[in-house]
Formats: sequence, C-alpha cells, structure tokens
Amino acid sequence: MKASLTACALLMAGALAATAAGKVEVRLRPSDESPVIEKEIYGQFAEHLGTCIYGGLWVGPESEIPNTDGYRNDVLEALRELHVPVMRWPGGCFADEYHWRDGIGPRASRPRMVNSNWGGTVEDNSFGTHEFFNLCELLGCEPYLSGNVGSGTVAELAQWVEYITAEDGPMAELRRKNGRERPWHLKYLGVGNESWGCGGNFTPEYYSDVYRRYQTYCRNFNGNRLYKVASGASDYDFNWTEVMMRNAARYMDGISLHYYTVLGWTGSKGSATVFGDDDYYWTLGKCLEVGPVVRRHCDIMDRYDPDRRVGLLVDEWGTWWDEEPGTVPGHLFQQNTMRDAMVAALSLNLFHTFTDRVKMTNIAQIANVLQSMVLTRGDEMVLTPTYYVFRMYVPHQGARLVPAEVDTPVRHTTDERTVPMVSATASTKDGVLTLSLVNTDLREEAEISVDMAGIKGSVSGAEILTASTAGAFNDFGKPQQVAPALFKGAKVSGGVLRAKLPPMAIVTISIR
Ligand code: AHR
Repeated sequence: MKASLTACALLMAGALAATAAGKVEVRLRPSDESPVIEKEIYGQFAEHLGTCIYGGLWVGPESEIPNTDGYRNDVLEALRELHVPVMRWPGGCFADEYHWRDGIGPRASRPRMVNSNWGGTVEDNSFGTHEFFNLCELLGCEPYLSGNVGSGTVAELAQWVEYITAEDGPMAELRRKNGRERPWHLKYLGVGNESWGCGGNFTPEYYSDVYRRYQTYCRNFNGNRLYKVASGASDYDFNWTEVMMRNAARYMDGISLHYYTVLGWTGSKGSATVFGDDDYYWTLGKCLEVGPVVRRHCDIMDRYDPDRRVGLLVDEWGTWWDEEPGTVPGHLFQQNTMRDAMVAALSLNLFHTFTDRVKMTNIAQIANVLQSMVLTRGDEMVLTPTYYVFRMYVPHQGARLVPAEVDTPVRHTTDERTVPMVSATASTKDGVLTLSLVNTDLREEAEISVDMAGIKGSVSGAEILTASTAGAFNDFGKPQQVAPALFKGAKVSGGVLRAKLPPMAIVTISIR
C-alpha cells in the first residue's frame, strides 16, 4: 500500500498514491517562513546512573585512561564531533535525591550516598557542579540543570542557582573558595523531574503549586536569564499537561515530556540485539507514535498559550531494552543496533517538524545507559550506530527546515501502527541543502526521486549508514560493524535528485 505523507504530518495522512512498490516521490517545499531547526533538538542527557558519568564521561585526573582534567579524551573527542548543543544533568530520577552541596569542595572529603534509584550503587560525589559546568565549557554546550524538588528544599535549589550564577554574596564566595572565580552561565533549569513518579509522586494539581513556589526563588543574578522548565508528562498523560498549563503556564518558559520506545514498564522489554522482523517494525511504529503524542500535547498547549511562548522539551527519549546479560542490574546498560539508528533518524526527522513548539529534545543517555552515543569498557570506547546518525545530522542543527512531502508505501505493524517505507527531512544553511532519507524496509530497495522545487546545485557529499542485519552492532573489539560510508547512489539532474537506497539505510546528502 502506498500513502501520501508529508514530513509535517507523518502519521496523520492516509491518502493513497498509485506509484509502484519501492518507488518513492519526495517534493521539497522551501519557504522563507519555515522555522529554523533548533540546535537544542540534538540535546544530550547525562545521569548519575550506571557508568554514564563514572567510567563513561569521567575517570578522574589520576586515571591511567587518557583524560583532560578527569574527562576521558576519547569520549570528549567523539562528542565534539556531534556539536552537542545542550546537556541535561544530574538526572533523571537521580536529580530528586541529589543534594548539590555533597558534590562541591575537595573531592576526597565529599560525602558518599547510595544511588537508590539505580542499583543501590554507592556514589562518591566526585563528579559534581564544578565537574559538570567545566565539561559543558569544554564541549561548548549549554548546561541544563535538573533541580531537586522531590526530596530537596526551595532554599537548596535557590542557593544552587546562586552558587552557579551570582557574582557576589555568600554562595559566590563559596564557589570562589572551591576554585571557580567567575560565575558560570546557566540558562536551562528543570524544576523537578518526573514529578508524577520518581520525582515525588505528585498529582498535577499539587505539583503545579509546588512548581510555582520553587521557581519564584530561582533568581536571575547579574544578567543571567533562566529558562525555567516545569516537570511534564510521560507520553500519553495529556491531563498532566492540561493541568500544568492551566495552573502554571505563566510561570514557566518550558514544560517537559518523556517518551520512550519501550514495550512496557513491567516484564521484559525485549533484547536490544536479538529480535525478529515484526519486533523491528513494531519498534519503528512505536517510535513514530511520538508524532501524534507530541501533537496532542501541543494542541493542549495551544489552547493556553496560543502565541507559543512556552516550549515543549522532550527531555528524555529513545529506546529502552532489557539490560545486557551479565551487566549490573539497575545500570540500564544496553547495546545499540542498526534498529536503534533507525529510531534515532525517524525521531529526529519528526522533531524537525515541530520546532515551532518543541524547543529541545534530549536522547537518553549520552554514555553507557539506554540509547547511548558511546559505550565504554575500561579504556575502550565504541561509537554506536545512534552516534553516527547524530553525526550525520549535524548540518541540520540551526538550519532552516525545508518541508518535504513524501509519497511512500507504508506498512502496518502487528499492532496496527503505520510505518512509512521512506521518511525524509531537509534543511538549508549557508547555501547548502542537506537532505536526509531513511529507507525503513528490511528487504526492499527504495528508488527515490526528489523534486527540488527550483533549488539549484549538485551533490557535494553523501554518507550512508546501513548494516547486514537490523541487529548489527558495534562492540568492544569489533567497533566498526555499523559505520557510515560514502554514498554514491545520488545524482541531481533536471531539478530532480534521484537516489537508490538499499534496504534499512539512512543517507544524508549535501547539495551545493
Ligand atoms: O533515563 C532513565 C530514567 O527514565 C530517568 O532517570 C527517569 O527520568 C526516567 O524514568
């Protein structure tokens, strides 16, 4: 079956087109009115969970693993290539049990704590505020702080903001004593995390009042302007967004949403690497459902905030599988396959179409947890297929969206979700058109023709990410099973770009 889809309304369109199977038509619709793709759509998330921080990002200055001031060099180098725009920290569920004063001052004398959310691991607090903000400076990314509302106090959060951003006063003096003269820049401040669950089990009615109270005392010191984010809904909890917008919209700059591609919250979540064709298509269908879910949250927000002042931040998303056998329970270490790469590409293609409301997204998580960019073991590091998607998509960051209409065959999954054979996204920046095409089909090649709508140029570079099977992954000792290669199958002629994509492939083409 073949459906006419636009990238803006991927799952809503149902019109049938009559082109042959495997043949796909894309029409670009360039317009100066199109929004810019916020670079923060490419945000990351680093939680004190498993080996995300310890071992993944931070090994400490005394480590034999090559590092810069304690941050591992291989990971720094890999992340620099992603142009990470923003990083959320310290959680997640961890954030609502984190007391920032435990993570400042001489490392050797910092108190230890039990990380009760994540496997009961003892946390030594050697990675704290200074280590996080210095990392953001090294990477050139915006810090996004997740504040403790569940088990903290208003004063504790207010003073954390003061410690980080004030020029003068008792908190600034404490910061100076701990070695940092100048304040750091802090824009994004999350007031709690999953406040409906691990962040306090609040009702939305109660939390909206708590939110109003906490945010009141988080001040803008000497020119720093906070962007305050209320803890938002989990996927289908539309009532949470409704109540929050009704009760507290005027006190927030953003509200979050968490959406995981997950089988369910009880029982097995399925293996990250061993799965069948139906599981593969189920995964893509579930991942694409973020489109209609975001749409419904946006529709609610539109009723209370028609000018779209308040941003929706999908500050946790990605795949969630069973932990790898033999790894520490509660550490959420999972492998990352070509299937995960497809989820990343399809999700990013969708997020591009919502940038008038969706101002940031943060894939969970940056290292060694859930759908990671990098996996580390001792001094080894592998780049995941998801990492490569983020790298291939860098040119879309901050570029002007070129809406794309796609006539594509679609497939119905076992649970009646719809997966298009081809998904497309395009953007322009600095005179370069970047086109990303995804062929989701496991067996069929896609013959794609793209009507360039008068955009001139020829192919100046193209990369493809594909693999022999959807379950292919990069592992320690075998780090290059899934890696991008030069793509030679695209050509522009007569205002039309033609590309032949092999099955299960992600391609990014630059046209100059
Ligand atoms: O990303 C793992 C966890 O998922 C986060 O800590 C929490 O916010 C969510 O439930």
